[in-house]
Amino acid sequence: MHQFLPYAWFRGECVPFAEANVSIATHALHYGTGAFGGMRAIPDPKENRDFLLFRVDRHAKRLSQSAKLLLTELTEDTFLNALKVMLKANKPTKPIYLRPFVYTSDLGIAPRLHNIETDFLIYGIELGDYLSPEGVSCRFSSWTRQEDCSLPLRGKISGAYITSSLAKTEAVLSGFDEALLLNTKGKVSEASGMNIFIVREGNLITPGVDQDILEGITRASVIEIAKDKGINVIERAVDKTELFIADEVFLTGTAAKITPIRKIESTILGSNRPIMNYLKECLVDITEGRNPKYNQWITRIKIN
Ligand SMILES: Cc1ncc(COP(=O)(O)O)c(C=O)c1O
Repeated sequence: MHQFLPYAWFRGECVPFAEANVSIATHALHYGTGAFGGMRAIPDPKENRDFLLFRVDRHAKRLSQSAKLLLTELTEDTFLNALKVMLKANKPTKPIYLRPFVYTSDLGIAPRLHNIETDFLIYGIELGDYLSPEGVSCRFSSWTRQEDCSLPLRGKISGAYITSSLAKTEAVLSGFDEALLLNTKGKVSEASGMNIFIVREGNLITPGVDQDILEGITRASVIEIAKDKGINVIERAVDKTELFIADEVFLTGTAAKITPIRKIESTILGSNRPIMNYLKECLVDITEGRNPKYNQWITRIKIN
């Protein structure tokens, strides 16, 4: 059961979560014409009146770009101001996940993005681990990751998540934790809501932005940290077979953080993951505000 934050941002103001409701005729509910974001915020372990947001500027930018892809406007400033007001109203005490959503809020039929009213909302939930930090089992999905020529994959377009939902449920109902999707070229793309990395002979490898991935903010951060630490990073097409023989395989995402894959189909993968563990330690240090070099990735918000 989700523990929702008491106040949501809805129709331009903070309202009690239970009062933030839309009509059954809401356009986006029927056509998937919305775009969302997802970010984590944690109480500062040192200064508990502060809340720490990880790479909020990147999240704001991606949401604003997603809105643009839906032919509407949501400026980064409009979003960030709403987020601050909403956080201060809620005064959270535990780690949370924030879910902004921009959507066609008009009532009625006809799939379109022109001549239509849009709105945006934000709600929050308390969130600990989304996937087991000990590692997950994965299967290859029978569903294929969409192509950028069918829908704008650079945005987190809500309608696109039908494929993620089908793949995740197929994986879980067949005894696995998570799904891996190949793209239409038969190359590894990503998981249902995470990017994927492998380690081979000390090189950190991940499918490039031309592999129909969502350009994950955690992915970009892991790449930057790795390069900074002198690890060789290669963005290239990854074949399915490589996952079975890689030294380490792991997933990255805001919800999933850094989660190892311990098994793919019937193959048990190695449990020695020095590079992943090192990157995970670095990322935790940064997100908890302990690495001054990456201070610009952290936004501190006073909530009391
Ligand atoms: C399909 C998909 N891929 C990858 C990611 C990881 O992106 P990020 O690290 O920005 O959360 C997400 C989560 O937002 C996602 O939904």
